[in-house]
Amino acid sequence: MVVLANPPQALRSSGRLTLQVAEIAPDTTAFRCLDWDRDRFDIEFELENGTTYNSFLIRGEQTALIDTTHRKFQDLYLERLSQEIDWSQLDYLVVNHTEPDHSGLVPAILSRAPQVTVVGSKVAIQFLESMVHRPFNYLIVKSGSSLDLGGGHHLEFVSAPNLHWPDTILTYDASTRVLFPCDVFGMHYCSDCLWDETPHLLEADFQTYYDCLMGPNARSVLMALKRMQPLAVDLIATGHGPLLKHHHADWVERYRTWSENQAKAETFVALFYVDEYGYSDRLMRTITTGITKTGVAVEWVDLSVADPHEIRELVNCAAGIVIGMPPQSSQTTVTQVNFSTILATASSRQLFGLFETGGGKDEPIYPLRAQLRGLGLVEAFPPIVVKGAATAVIDQLCDEAGTDLGQRLSAIAPSNKAKPSNLALIKPWAG
Ligand code: FEO
Repeated sequence: MVVLANPPQALRSSGRLTLQVAEIAPDTTAFRCLDWDRDRFDIEFELENGTTYNSFLIRGEQTALIDTTHRKFQDLYLERLSQEIDWSQLDYLVVNHTEPDHSGLVPAILSRAPQVTVVGSKVAIQFLESMVHRPFNYLIVKSGSSLDLGGGHHLEFVSAPNLHWPDTILTYDASTRVLFPCDVFGMHYCSDCLWDETPHLLEADFQTYYDCLMGPNARSVLMALKRMQPLAVDLIATGHGPLLKHHHADWVERYRTWSENQAKAETFVALFYVDEYGYSDRLMRTITTGITKTGVAVEWVDLSVADPHEIRELVNCAAGIVIGMPPQSSQTTVTQVNFSTILATASSRQLFGLFETGGGKDEPIYPLRAQLRGLGLVEAFPPIVVKGAATAVIDQLCDEAGTDLGQRLSAIAPSNKAKPSNLALIKPWAG
């Protein structure tokens, strides 16, 4: 049960930027930066109701800040935060997503709290390293990772790549049952209302946001929803818009319904990898760029943490398979079981491509290639084997390989570009 311990207070600054601070759960404070007049977000869509950038503070025995805010709120936000915490006592900064509307003040936080440990996905940490240009303490997390803040606050993390950037994680506090998903389930809607008590006023902005940011990766949304399923959620503390308390299950159900509808008609490639080896994350990102250019979607699966059921389901539906092989000697039992599942499920209607990075003399890519060919799958591009550092030439090769695969799949299923409408799929609000 979420308790509103104190009523929200609004601190007005010059212009149309304001800050709302509210206790949203035990030991948990929201800092909602209200950007009343913002009328455009990237090139993607016009905003009719402004937006907000929401940041959160959890005070257990250790203190964690979850996401920051847009740099335009620097003075307002940092001044208020300084009243709440002693910077030298800030232990963690969780970065669910690194787009600047949430990470714009990470450098400012690091200046004030150089001891802080930044928590994020591997990709997020890489993005931040290139953004802040200074060393910092960090902790890489993914699905299954957890972090005990003490005082009952035990954070769990869920990987949600492609929602809507490759860096995304969701953070969940098991003691308060609050989910902090950053962009996911958000909406660009600015008002003093902290909660979602008027869903009929919000639903148009909620759907526009889904259509622009999440709908293009509908299958990834479904994967993230599946990973979220074991979490008992009472409150979704989103990074944009009001916090979802009164109707959180209905909002999640909308994501599920829309994504199932989108995914039905989607041609996609399942890209399997193990992210701890060599330059596999860089290669998979450039291959993905090439594939998605052609209008074909990509679903990433880390073989070291996925379960065989998830693998089977994806391989059954995928039009193409790309596998990034780790060295044979480094494969865990889980990884090997998952490779076997791919081989047991793949079929001759599929195209495939392979890459390998970080390997030594044991090049497992060639036996795997022979096995897939033996099953009747058609190779879309020659194996990519990287022995040294990844370079711009390798990037280009991967991009072109992905494009070749995507174009061949598009030629097989040209009708897949017509996306089904999500209109009329949702149920009216209860009550
Ligand atoms: Fe709200 Fe993707 O940033």
